[in-house]
Amino acid sequence: MRIVLVGFGVVGQSFAKLLLSRSADLYSQHGVKPRIVACVDNKGSAISPAGLDLERLLMAKKKGTVGMYEKGAAKFDPLHIIENVDAEVVIEATPTDLTTGEPGTSHIISAMRTGKHVISVNKGPLALAFPSLIELANYNGVMLRFSGTVGGGTPILEFAKRCLKGDRIVSFQGILNGTTNYILSKMEEGLTYESALADAKEKGYAEAVPSLDTDGYDAAAKLVIMANWVMGMKVTMKDVARTGISGVKVSDVKSAQSRGNAIKLIAACDSRILEVRPTEVSKKDPICVNGTLNAVTFSSEHSGQQTIIGRGAGGMETASAVLRDLIEIRDTVFER
Ligand code: HSE
Repeated sequence: MRIVLVGFGVVGQSFAKLLLSRSADLYSQHGVKPRIVACVDNKGSAISPAGLDLERLLMAKKKGTVGMYEKGAAKFDPLHIIENVDAEVVIEATPTDLTTGEPGTSHIISAMRTGKHVISVNKGPLALAFPSLIELANYNGVMLRFSGTVGGGTPILEFAKRCLKGDRIVSFQGILNGTTNYILSKMEEGLTYESALADAKEKGYAEAVPSLDTDGYDAAAKLVIMANWVMGMKVTMKDVARTGISGVKVSDVKSAQSRGNAIKLIAACDSRILEVRPTEVSKKDPICVNGTLNAVTFSSEHSGQQTIIGRGAGGMETASAVLRDLIEIRDTVFER
């Protein structure tokens, strides 16, 4: 499968490393032979119809940009590459912008209009325009997949969509943001909000603009993606009532603790109402995970409640979700 990789940050580079370490068994076990034929970052691009040498690509990035892959190579803009390079799949891995959705949205639209399947790890386009992007994918007969946008490598979307197939999910709620969960967990240990946030930034959990985490935007974006994909709702960011954690004081956390509870930033979809807000949760509830973990409880009509827990962020974790999507696209297209 020929791939155009747009965005070569932590997730893009982790994906290249994953392919390097897994190429043999990907072919023997899944019949997938991924070739990255073009890669674009914010400063340059590298193209090779035969497939880029991924070690060399990673070395070029270390020097500043994938544009260093080849001396004197022409620098094309991402849209030109997406539209003109022969490939089956475009991976959109540029940073999330929850205000404009750009540049991800334009990349995804160009890819689908030129008949390419899309894997997005960028939450912005989906949070702002999920219904119209799905419509465009269907119109163009291509697949749009986005497992890595919710839960990092934890298959939250697949669990709901596939494992609970045939049942009816009536509601779900969960911890969808690792950074705020880390901050709230650290506050339980006695750290102030400010020092816990500084700690989360230093450890690389937080978004480039940390208010996306602390004000609940990131959790709201993931909630929107889940509501569309799992519940069949047609919603965007504006449909979520959102409160972040900046108003949560150490004294609130301590007082919840004295009742055997913890304050968590819970994203919930109940009676088709979407809400993100700090909520007191019993420590005995399986959803009450600590650190950067994510957890979601689905309530289904027939099978009751199930909770899925796992690491909600990280380069390699999210790259593993991209790989799942790639295998799914290959399997689906092959079966057609
Ligand atoms: N900033 C996000 C989080 C990264 O803390 O969960 C993963 O989407």
